[in-house]
Amino acid sequence: MTKPAEMQKASSSWRKKGLTVALVPTMGALHMGHAALIRRAAKIADRVVVSAYVNPTQFNSRGDFEKYPKRTLADMKLAAQAGTDVLFRPRNLYASDASTWVEETVLSKGRCGARRPGHFRGVATVVVKLLGIVQPDLAIFGEKDRQQCEMVERVVRDLYLSVRILRHPTVRERDGLPMSSRNLRLNPAQRELAGKWATAVRLAARKGPRKAPSFLRNLLRKVGGIRLEYAEVAGRQFCAAAWIGKIRLIDHRPFGGRA
Ligand code: PAF
Repeated sequence: MTKPAEMQKASSSWRKKGLTVALVPTMGALHMGHAALIRRAAKIADRVVVSAYVNPTQFNSRGDFEKYPKRTLADMKLAAQAGTDVLFRPRNLYASDASTWVEETVLSKGRCGARRPGHFRGVATVVVKLLGIVQPDLAIFGEKDRQQCEMVERVVRDLYLSVRILRHPTVRERDGLPMSSRNLRLNPAQRELAGKWATAVRLAARKGPRKAPSFLRNLLRKVGGIRLEYAEVAGRQFCAAAWIGKIRLIDHRPFGGRA
């Protein structure tokens, strides 16, 4: 399905029949992390909508937007197997004269928000559009994007949107790298480095809030090839972002975990 009006109609008719609707918002290039979110949605709700829309307003560079992986057929297959009822693939969610934005002004400011100006405004805007179109009872977001989860929960609360937001724990590859569509862009050498990055974040979090940032910085200096963007403490979490070549990776781990 590609048309917002059709999607809205389908959702309204389900709701009239008393069926509950779950939304899993994605940008496509689905992986097993998404599959876990979809399976969870299918367990809780009667109907599952997966949106796949590469939202142009949340990218900081044209290059990153254009290079975002696209795998329509594979997406359809994975979505169906995981229990999706409708894969919603809108072509464009911005009218040429669109002039409405949603901006959360506190939780979106530090960490990724400080390094990606406008990113969270783009995310908040598209999420509110998707909630308006799909009208779900609940929406599930991956905790890998922890700041995004925090911000979306705040937007929903502040705007009195009638939807329940659920977070799903980060799903990781065998070597600990959080699953992400962007991982597809890593070449084999970069992919190996990405595993080392994930290990380094895990080990750093074990050191506790005071020592974790400098521990990670030193560890990455030894490994080489990974450019740390930030390493910060956010509550009980150690949050970090880094670049391998032109690919940006984020991760977070709880302090004091078994790690
Ligand atoms: O997490 C994502 O994939 C995106 O930020 C989202 C929530 C689908 C909005 O475009």
